[in-house]
Amino acid sequence: MAPPPPLLLLLLAVAASSSACHGYQYDPSRGPLVTAVIVFGDSIVDPGNNNGLLTLIKANHPPYGKDFFNHEATGRYSNGLIPTDLIAQGLGVKQLLPGYLGVDLSPEDLLTGVSFASGATGFDPLTPVVVSVISLEQQLAYFDEYREKLVAIAGEEETEKIIGGALFVVCAGTDDVANTYFTTPFRSVEYDIPSYVELLVAGAESFLRNVSARGAAKIGFVGMPPVGCVPSQRTLGGGLRRECEPRRNEAAQLYNARIQEMIAGLNAEPGFPTLVVYLDIYRILDDLMERGEKYGFTETTRGCCGTGTIEVTGLCDSRFVSVCDDVSNHVFFDSYHPTERAYRIIVNDIFDNYIQVLT
Ligand SMILES: *[C@@H]1O[C@H](CO)[C@@H](O)[C@H](O)[C@H]1NC(C)=O
Repeated sequence: MAPPPPLLLLLLAVAASSSACHGYQYDPSRGPLVTAVIVFGDSIVDPGNNNGLLTLIKANHPPYGKDFFNHEATGRYSNGLIPTDLIAQGLGVKQLLPGYLGVDLSPEDLLTGVSFASGATGFDPLTPVVVSVISLEQQLAYFDEYREKLVAIAGEEETEKIIGGALFVVCAGTDDVANTYFTTPFRSVEYDIPSYVELLVAGAESFLRNVSARGAAKIGFVGMPPVGCVPSQRTLGGGLRRECEPRRNEAAQLYNARIQEMIAGLNAEPGFPTLVVYLDIYRILDDLMERGEKYGFTETTRGCCGTGTIEVTGLCDSRFVSVCDDVSNHVFFDSYHPTERAYRIIVNDIFDNYIQVLT
């Protein structure tokens, strides 16, 4: 065979180096990198656990899921896949991470992990109560039930191996700041931002200790995004020009700093059996919203659903509003949740930065 022409070699080299700087690529020949993916948190990682609840916080109606398989509105808060699916794929575990509630799960699905997350929950015990969704404490109770199912399928020894080899993900906190603190009066009359942040950090610490006590070896803890820049918060607090609302962003930054200190303290504690990894998403979301054109996004301040300024969950409903023609140009699908394309960029960034410590 003739040697390949030099131009082809050059192109291959360029392709290799550009994929290297976009870093992480799952190598199927290695097999799954963890035994299971087990998730607690809010709508960012909820595949449909709210569907059967008496709450307005649901995404099981069009246009949610418009780019999902069969255009199915599963309850995922996006036009397609959500981060939990992309994380499970990126680790070679499975294509979709199912919710724990409301679906019949095969033994295989149970063995490789589920999400207990519930849209609009948070670390503040009041947050899930205001909107009738599943508290983090209740998510742990579901985990305990789930564990019993694993034991019934695979036995105690194998269950310990699955849990010890799993990647746990905890993603919450944004609803506490955006909804409970800044939108309802319940907390802001009693707490200033620093004291409210301490309440959230204490809740997060208690939750991490409880997950650790259940045998988790590795927990990825997702930090807070610049919540003042998501479309609904621009509308509510950003004035006529819908600018990023600075107090929400300051709260997010303070929270992220305090959370990292708390996590460092846990990891340094003698005998604490779990490695907790803080996953920064502030920087990549800030980049997507401030320099969206770098990623091919032309609309960074409005969601694709309806006017994009306020519609979310019940208000983002095809019976009442239409959707944009060009979802791939949008960072946000509704006024709060990113599009699948933005989620892919965020999850790739997480893998680029943390894959070594997470697996
Ligand atoms: C952690 O577990 C303790 C003891 O069971 C419980 O009182 C507490 O509410 C739990 N905290 C969270 C955030 O789950």
